[in-house]
Amino acid sequence: MKHLIAPSILAADFANMGKDIKMLDQSNADWVHVDVMDGCFVPNISFGFPVLKAIKPLTNKTMDCHLMIVEPEKYVEDFAKAGADVITIHYEATNHLHRAMQQIKNTGVLAGVALNPHTPVNLLFDILEEIDLVCLMSVNPGFGGQKFIYSTIKKTKQLKEEITRRNLNTKIEIDGGVGLQNAESLLQAGADVLVAGSAVFKADNPMEMIDKLKNVGVYNEL
Ligand code: DX5
Ligand code: ZN
Repeated sequence: MKHLIAPSILAADFANMGKDIKMLDQSNADWVHVDVMDGCFVPNISFGFPVLKAIKPLTNKTMDCHLMIVEPEKYVEDFAKAGADVITIHYEATNHLHRAMQQIKNTGVLAGVALNPHTPVNLLFDILEEIDLVCLMSVNPGFGGQKFIYSTIKKTKQLKEEITRRNLNTKIEIDGGVGLQNAESLLQAGADVLVAGSAVFKADNPMEMIDKLKNVGVYNEL
């Protein structure tokens, strides 16, 4: 399967969010990445399910919700109701990851786990079968426009090896500082979904940038 591109609307124009969502809808982007921040798990506040609910009717794209919040279990049903298609919570934000994966899947959406840059991938191996998507953070979560942390490439390879060895369908998503400069290395390492905020929205022509990211010449073997 060809890799997926998930522009992050954290870098969109908040005063014209509807316009930016419609642009994504017309584009070759696969998913819309929705970064939810609570000012507690991360030192920034973005938006929550009311915003998701408002933008959902403007596009048919998959809504990929990345919850950077404490006690994410409290809000899983709200995000599913507001239109999430993928709900990703942080490994570092819950004591009961296995249960949370079941809870997310019970709402009928895909269940994801995000790992901060310091969290090793093997901490997920005991429950890898339960996880639809692993989001490897390639920056410290909280802000767009940060510098890509290169050790993510090694983590991507380690995780891909384990997924392939067990013949699982778990997708690997990379989030933070992704752009044309590192997309190819990430895809070669085994990434399936590339999140791109600044690379897309700060480009002169965001739709063209999405095409470029989509056409980076490495295909996955999924
Ligand atoms: C960081 C967010 C990312 C971020 C990506 O906390 O999870 O999704 O918006 O933005 P860029 O691509 O600008 O690093
Ligand atoms: Zn994100």
